[in-house]
Amino acid sequence: NFSWKLADHPKLPKGKTVAVVVLDGWGEANPDEYNCIHTAKTPTMDSLKTGAPEKWRLVRAHGTAVGLPTEDDMGNSEVGHNALGAGRIFAQGAKLVDLALASGKIYEGEGFQYIKESFDKGTLHLIGLLSDGGVHSRLDQLQLLLKGATEHGAKRIRVHFLTDGRDVLDGSSVGFVETLENDLANLREKGIDAQIASGGGRMYVTMDRYENDWDVVKRGWYAQVLGEAPHKFQNAVEAVKELRKEPKANDQYLPPFVIVDESGEAVGPIVDGDAVVTFNFRADRMVMPAKALEYENFDKFDRIRFPKIRYAGMLQYDGELKLPSHYLVSPPEIDRTSGQYLVKNGIRTFACSETVKFGHVTFFWNGNRSGYFDSTMEEYVEIPSDVGITFNVQPKMKALEIAEKARDAILSGKFDQVRVNIPNGDMVGHTGDIEATTVACEAADVAVKMIIDAIEQVGGIYVVTADHGNAEDMVKRNKSGKPLLDKEGKIQVLTSHTLQPVPIAIGGPGLSPGARFRSDVPSGGLANVAATVMNFHGFEAPGDYETTLIEVVDN
Ligand code: 3PG
Ligand code: CO
Repeated sequence: NFSWKLADHPKLPKGKTVAVVVLDGWGEANPDEYNCIHTAKTPTMDSLKTGAPEKWRLVRAHGTAVGLPTEDDMGNSEVGHNALGAGRIFAQGAKLVDLALASGKIYEGEGFQYIKESFDKGTLHLIGLLSDGGVHSRLDQLQLLLKGATEHGAKRIRVHFLTDGRDVLDGSSVGFVETLENDLANLREKGIDAQIASGGGRMYVTMDRYENDWDVVKRGWYAQVLGEAPHKFQNAVEAVKELRKEPKANDQYLPPFVIVDESGEAVGPIVDGDAVVTFNFRADRMVMPAKALEYENFDKFDRIRFPKIRYAGMLQYDGELKLPSHYLVSPPEIDRTSGQYLVKNGIRTFACSETVKFGHVTFFWNGNRSGYFDSTMEEYVEIPSDVGITFNVQPKMKALEIAEKARDAILSGKFDQVRVNIPNGDMVGHTGDIEATTVACEAADVAVKMIIDAIEQVGGIYVVTADHGNAEDMVKRNKSGKPLLDKEGKIQVLTSHTLQPVPIAIGGPGLSPGARFRSDVPSGGLANVAATVMNFHGFEAPGDYETTLIEVVDN
């Protein structure tokens, strides 16, 4: 006899306004010149850290603490916000795909059976991020899928890859393409007609998110489906090497290209009767391309041609839209999230970020579901992100605007929970621009101050934390922590996330005097935050949630 009703917290009152601030890409690391959080002036975050020791601590944000396969897996926003919102640790896409491939179950599932129907006459197209970053996809999974698909009847295969440089070092794409070429050559020796058909950089081709810029998806559509791109090559390794020399090009922003045969014909457009798999497991940047591939009615750009294909995602990317309708591996069933519980227990909720992170505090927070649980109780506000720039050019991003919206929501008295994501540390950190990332961290700090000040005014409570590390370490290091130098003696800039823990701070005039972090959850992680926040709303968390980080002692 399940019930949505949450038990009252024995000591903490209801009715306090609670601000939940997630600093994206804000980890804790040793102070040095490559730690932009350290080099930045961050008086607000500093004061939280050096204030009462029982109101600031670190939590784990990577590896098994957020449902990733191993402790070598850095954290990311999908798994981080899933854990923050759901209050439990779910085996995530990366892990679920590993298991399905290892057991062979992936080939028995509905999704594979569905695409397999096309193998006799059609081509199997594989579209996705070529990387071992483990955030959106993994090269070893693609390799296993290539092998398995041919063992299960695929005779003609075309790979459309996206180069990374964001979850892995810039320039690493060349090696990944060489590995892929080698694998495809081995398949050709076995009589499989397998080739690379197109490519492009992930931030410029296909992998947009939250409808920030449909042109990104359109470029991918042209290259992958129509076989049209501004650049044509006969060899993919050469393509990547050459295009990296273009002005402003790097792995993230490589222009799109198609592979052509001797007569100049594209070798792998997607046509009627083909099968398509998008092999990324992570959801946010696959929802838009999945819509283009699946929806009969579609008006985001002119597709020119809409081939009749059998399409499956590696996972289902959106649980509410049931998109795509066919998938190779079932996604984690992230049910009964804290957002849903709180709304059902009368908590009026406001959530806000700018476009590039908007879905993080809504879609990911709510277990990869788009939309409201109850539109009469919730308001989600999206501030449009700047489009067509890299964020080192605008490192302040929309931090101030997000904070202003949060402040207004707090002061309005209309909401019990005000939740934001401040993107700067992460989005600018991913550019690898160390100076700009420092400015980014300063802007994020100002935003935190504005929100905390509003909480002071209404007698509320704040929870300030982060989803994973990024800005606190901008250099690739050796095992002993020394920066790694390349052949020319230059440092290797780290554009990716890190394995670092993240801070969590609590406070505000509404915090009961005896409330403080307990000392008996030393290995606490992001999944422990949901129960903590529920406590601040005056409730006990459900029994199967990861335990709260706080206790209330009598003064
Ligand atoms: C991205 O998609 O931008 C990166 O791969 C991961 O960044 P995020 O996990 O912070 O969104
Ligand atoms: Co990031």
